[in-house]
Amino acid sequence: MMRAVVLVGGIGTRLRPLTYSVPKPMLPVGHVSIIERLITNLVGGGVTDVTLALGFKPEPFIEAFPDGTCAGAQLRYAVEPEPLDTAGAIRFAAEAVGIDDTFVVANGDVLTDLDISALVDFHRSHGAEATLHLIAVDDPSAFGVVALDDDGRVRRFVEKPAAGTEPSNLINAGTYVLEASVLGRIPTGRKVSIERSTFPAIVAEGLAYAYATDDYWIDTGMPDLYLAANLDLVSGRRSGQSCVGVHPAASVHPTALVERSVVAAGTCVANDARVVDSVVLAGATIGAGSCLSRSVVMGRIGAGATVHDSVIGADGAVADGEHIAHQRRPDPARP
Ligand code: GTP
Repeated sequence: MMRAVVLVGGIGTRLRPLTYSVPKPMLPVGHVSIIERLITNLVGGGVTDVTLALGFKPEPFIEAFPDGTCAGAQLRYAVEPEPLDTAGAIRFAAEAVGIDDTFVVANGDVLTDLDISALVDFHRSHGAEATLHLIAVDDPSAFGVVALDDDGRVRRFVEKPAAGTEPSNLINAGTYVLEASVLGRIPTGRKVSIERSTFPAIVAEGLAYAYATDDYWIDTGMPDLYLAANLDLVSGRRSGQSCVGVHPAASVHPTALVERSVVAAGTCVANDARVVDSVVLAGATIGAGSCLSRSVVMGRIGAGATVHDSVIGADGAVADGEHIAHQRRPDPARP
């Protein structure tokens, strides 16, 4: 048996207004929720039992898997009474289900083709207490940046370093293998960040290792990346994985044009609308003659409107004939 804890309790501030109605890992990428895609990859790498570390909006997760399984994994739920941040959430969830052996942790908003079994083998063969999956990126400053020794030991771990001071271009890609002993390092009853507190402490003792790969990897936590994750699937940019753009249960008028876009089941795209490089999510209606580009929509787009590079949440609307670009509706600044 291999167990995993998946962190899914965050508020998803950066993906507002979409996350006002749907918690980030429950949002679909190519018609399948992020969490289901993530768990499918974990199961492919030998994980048999997944505990969801829940906090913000736990109900949609529980309702989505009524038989308590996902992609063949047994699901368990741990709901925090208050947000404990990443390390606090890992300890809370692991103790709730009695984890006492090597286990996998994944951030619930990351999509990757990483071979989990290879990460676990690397962890075991190096005698690590914690092993991080790394990805090389062009601009690492927004991430946890890792400097490695030749044998894969982590020499430094710096969370979000100032631009220009990054020790490498390898970033924490949000999948870990941990020994149960890591749990004892995490103080209880308050917020603790694994990136800012726990990993630096393990690195200081020379017990953290990291494994860099060039697998497909995307953090879906921001609108442009959430859009990109969808477009990667529909445009066939992902080897071995793709999806149909227009779901068979969507209603798209024969005179509407849909290009390089994902249109969800139950949505309605009216006559002469153009939907290009966009994601139309459950609940959306796209008005006659409207034009949508590089946008994600859960709400209502009026007839003749043009919407470019915008995010329209479930309670958002664009009026008939209105032209907008680079907007989010409703305003994500609201609490
Ligand atoms: P932002 O608010 O946009 O930063 O998104 P987020 O809330 O998801 O935070 P972030 O992307 O930094 O979190 C990484 C992962 O940890 C995500 O999968 C979150 O769901 C999860 N997470 C963050 N904080 C908590 C927490 O306090 N409890 C639990 N259970 N999960 C958390």
